[in-house]
Amino acid sequence: MSELKACLFDLDGVIVDTAQFHYLAWRELANGLGFDLTVAQNEQLKGVSRVESLEIILKIGAVELDAETKNRLAATKNERYLELCQKMSSEDVLPGVQVFLDSLIQEGIKIGLGSASKNARLILAQIGMTRYFATIVDGNRITKGKPDPQTFLMGAEDLKVKPINCIVFEDAIAGIKAAKAGGMIAVGVGEPAGLKAAGADMVIPGFQDIDATTVKHLF
Ligand code: BG6
Ligand code: MG
Repeated sequence: MSELKACLFDLDGVIVDTAQFHYLAWRELANGLGFDLTVAQNEQLKGVSRVESLEIILKIGAVELDAETKNRLAATKNERYLELCQKMSSEDVLPGVQVFLDSLIQEGIKIGLGSASKNARLILAQIGMTRYFATIVDGNRITKGKPDPQTFLMGAEDLKVKPINCIVFEDAIAGIKAAKAGGMIAVGVGEPAGLKAAGADMVIPGFQDIDATTVKHLF
């Protein structure tokens, strides 16, 4: 029988609410190009790399740009995103996250990070959460983004556990698909409809009401 040995966490929208800043920065960029980006359209961008996100946005707005302009826009978006993140501190860690991570440590369950963001280390340091993660797989390490399972498979390998012994926590449809493609249990964090449809084994609104025992029952 398989058992829980490791939990892999997405960062943006799971550990900390940076998802709102990604959305705001992209929306400003879209507005600057003359169109809007709705909350529903933004769901397509969650878990997806900066470059891919820009491509999706340009498609939404039916805008065609040369490579140089795209690079400049992606850099501008990142500057704005980091500016919005500047005021964050440990108080911005999402409710219940720290208590949940402490409960995993107490049970001897390993903890890793699997994020598409190239800013993951910076954000973790800023919110004082780096120490929790025995491995960090971020946008600088991966060659294939979610929904490809590479991010989470790399995390499992780093932690020396089999995918079948891992749970992934994700707020993105692409992330849930990545976890399932990697043969892991996937817990969605957020609104159930899209996450369930993407294959989530369980969806939670947040971490307030769960502990290590709750998730062990998923095996
Ligand atoms: C993911 C976010 O975690 O990271 C995406 O959900 C974001 O919205 C992606 O585009 C890449 O982030 P960054 O910080 O490298 O631009
Ligand atoms: Mg996310």
